Amino acid sequence: MTRIVIATRNKGKVREMQNAFSDLPVELISLADIDGDIPEAVEDGVTFMENSLKKARHYQEMTGMACLADDSGLEVEALGGAPGVYSARYSGENADDTSNNAKLVAELRKRGLDSSPAAFQCALTLVDREGRVLQTQGSCEGIIRLEARGNGGFGYDPYFYVGDRSMAELTLSEKDAISHRGEALGKMAVLLKEHLK
Ligand code: IMP
Repeated sequence: MTRIVIATRNKGKVREMQNAFSDLPVELISLADIDGDIPEAVEDGVTFMENSLKKARHYQEMTGMACLADDSGLEVEALGGAPGVYSARYSGENADDTSNNAKLVAELRKRGLDSSPAAFQCALTLVDREGRVLQTQGSCEGIIRLEARGNGGFGYDPYFYVGDRSMAELTLSEKDAISHRGEALGKMAVLLKEHLK
């Protein structure tokens, strides 16, 4: 059984990944399962893929185990692709979902807009123990509107609409079926299956 450390402490992401790889002979653990202080990876890349590679390489070297890392975010057309790789810290150092969403709404209002086409992006990189690299990407297109709806999901979900429902109004399995992360994970499961043969 191949052990893979996932470069996250987020239990939600771990569950999504365990679900995506449930048919594969792999044991997934997260950074939260590893004893000792591991320095955080520096995420200073200019693309999601670059950041996911930096994270996967860093934690592979730190743990000696194969490592899978994801990097994701929101690109809003009317904002020239922002917040992009800065999605998690869009509103500054102590950003959280509420302050990031407030900034998103304010930036659209400033431009006299009440909506804009947008896309969630997800990049995944797996670095194995020999340093070999597998990478996949997924995206999900939708519309940012100024009205927040729904209590599910996280991050920008209440403002991101696919059809007439926001992402925060979808069930977990509905979101998985269309999401950027769901797409990237599905592709990674196919690559990994081949890689493990
Ligand atoms: P990270 O990949 O965990 O660093 O996430 C980057 C940021 O992008 C998060 O803090 C969220 O604000 C946003 N984001 C990524 N994926 C999603 C999603 O599925 N829904 C809503 N926001 C997301």
